[in-house]
Amino acid sequence: MFLSSIRVYNTIVSRSFRLTMATRQSSDTAKFKEHLDGAKEVVILSGAGISAESGIPTFRGAGGYWRKYQAASLATPEAFHTSPSLVWEFYHYRREVAAKAQPNAGHLAIADYEKKNGANKKITVITQNVDGLHKRAGTNNLIELHGNLYKTRCTKCKEVLENTDSPICEALANRGAPDSNVVGSDIPVKSLPHCRKPNCGGLLRPHIVWFGEGLDPIVLEQAGAAMSSCDVCLVVGTSSVVYPAAMFAPQAAQRGAIVAEFNIEPTPATPDFHFYFEGPCGTTLPKVLSAN
Ligand SMILES: NC(=O)c1ccc[n+]([C@@H]2O[C@H](COP(=O)([O-])OP(=O)(O)OC[C@H]3O[C@@H](n4cnc5c(N)ncnc54)[C@H](O)[C@@H]3O)[C@@H](O)[C@H]2O)c1
Ligand SMILES: [Zn+2]
Repeated sequence: MFLSSIRVYNTIVSRSFRLTMATRQSSDTAKFKEHLDGAKEVVILSGAGISAESGIPTFRGAGGYWRKYQAASLATPEAFHTSPSLVWEFYHYRREVAAKAQPNAGHLAIADYEKKNGANKKITVITQNVDGLHKRAGTNNLIELHGNLYKTRCTKCKEVLENTDSPICEALANRGAPDSNVVGSDIPVKSLPHCRKPNCGGLLRPHIVWFGEGLDPIVLEQAGAAMSSCDVCLVVGTSSVVYPAAMFAPQAAQRGAIVAEFNIEPTPATPDFHFYFEGPCGTTLPKVLSAN
């Protein structure tokens, strides 16, 4: 079964169950490389942790705040409805930070792995990230589950467009400072980004799947197909608490795929997996993905 047959919402859920009885996780690089070498289909599932070494804050831990707000609380339709100005300031800040960031050794190791092995294996990167760094590192076969910071969607006509303008509109120039003492700019709605289509002029929003919103069924179908046929899966820098992505790798492990997790600390899903490589993934991934 896969998830596209039902409407799937992006939600944070605390795991109160175990899919498989935990076995002891191995951290044997040579053993994992044997699995990787023998695999016909490999999925790399990434989360905010892979971009942490590029200077992009995750939603967990110390970096999880923007001003006095929990970052995740601003990634919601309710926050946008209440204050489009505040949410656009937050996303303007995130767009500017990600635009200045560079892909790190983890992103580059993944892109290089695809380049060297893509001819004889199907390699798919599924990311929860919206920062565009996998693409900039050179990854080709990429599924962005939660959208992208550099796409907008019209709230009226629903048109999705790429937009890399900096700033995205004049009123946001020099706005978005993250410090806790900064107060919101209260930009009038008419000065925020708007659709340029004749006869529309609707307010634009980031083309991002916010918490509580449904994932695009086509994107979900593509991710589901890759997850349900891979032999090996690498789970990199994700807390495995944001659904539905949190279910992908445990389900793959349950049906017999070999799953390895790369994180700086154990997650609720760690006991479901066969391998666990602890440490910053800019260090651990290149060791595992480079040729022997
Ligand atoms: N860069 C981005 O695009 C970005 C940033 C923040 C949040 N988000 C969004 O927020 C949601 C958060 O879920 P999530 O699981 O992706 O992130 P998360 O913030 O919930 O968790 C990040 C995980 O990365 C781990 N981590 C931190 N630094 C690491 C490193 N150097 N190497 C390896 N692991 C490291 C942490 O221990 C944690 O488990 C997603 O929906 C995502 O779209 C995206
Ligand atoms: Zn429009």
